[in-house]
Amino acid sequence: METWDAIRARRNVRQYTDQPVTRAELERILEAGRRAPSSTNWQPWHFVVVTDRQQLGELATVWRGAGHVAASAATIALVAADPEDDAHARLLQYDLGQATAYMMLAGADLGISSGHAAVSDQGEAKRVLGFPEGYSCLYLIALGHPADRPLRPIEHPDRRRFEDVVHWDRW
Ligand SMILES: Cc1cc2nc3c(=O)[nH]c(=O)nc-3n(C[C@H](O)[C@H](O)[C@H](O)COP(=O)(O)O)c2cc1C
Repeated sequence: METWDAIRARRNVRQYTDQPVTRAELERILEAGRRAPSSTNWQPWHFVVVTDRQQLGELATVWRGAGHVAASAATIALVAADPEDDAHARLLQYDLGQATAYMMLAGADLGISSGHAAVSDQGEAKRVLGFPEGYSCLYLIALGHPADRPLRPIEHPDRRRFEDVVHWDRW
């Protein structure tokens, strides 16, 4: 898919077919995340890739909006060391957002859909994923082939109007 098509086709998908995401596809998506920019090239992320069905089911309980993780073909958990101060906490959110967008677009390029999930229960996330003390799992990215319809560029996305969002030269 062309980059412009992938940008327009990506959407949150929360129901997936049984078709697996291959190791090569996962590695492409993860490599996209690894290449994402970050503040001072900090690269604060670790990506824990889960494909085991039981683990996916357990991971789906870490937040009430994470149910779709259970049926995903794979889920990437974004894990990072707990930030030392508020400034780093803000940068961490920005940087993880960039890595997420890169991975989701790399997935869309392959026809693989994705769905964000936040994480509330850090204790359960830590138990399932096994990351060390002083780290947290900030988000989950569920991946799989869409059960509803293939990813195609969306003509009229559910977004604020271009004119409301964009300010040329001055507000
Ligand atoms: C920071 C962030 C957290 C999100 N958390 C969840 C979540 O916990 N569960 C969920 O189903 N969707 C979650 N989403 C998905 C958004 O609801 C979705 O991106 C938004 O409604 C726009 O829809 P679209 O991605 O299909 O364009 C999250 C998105 C972002 C950027």
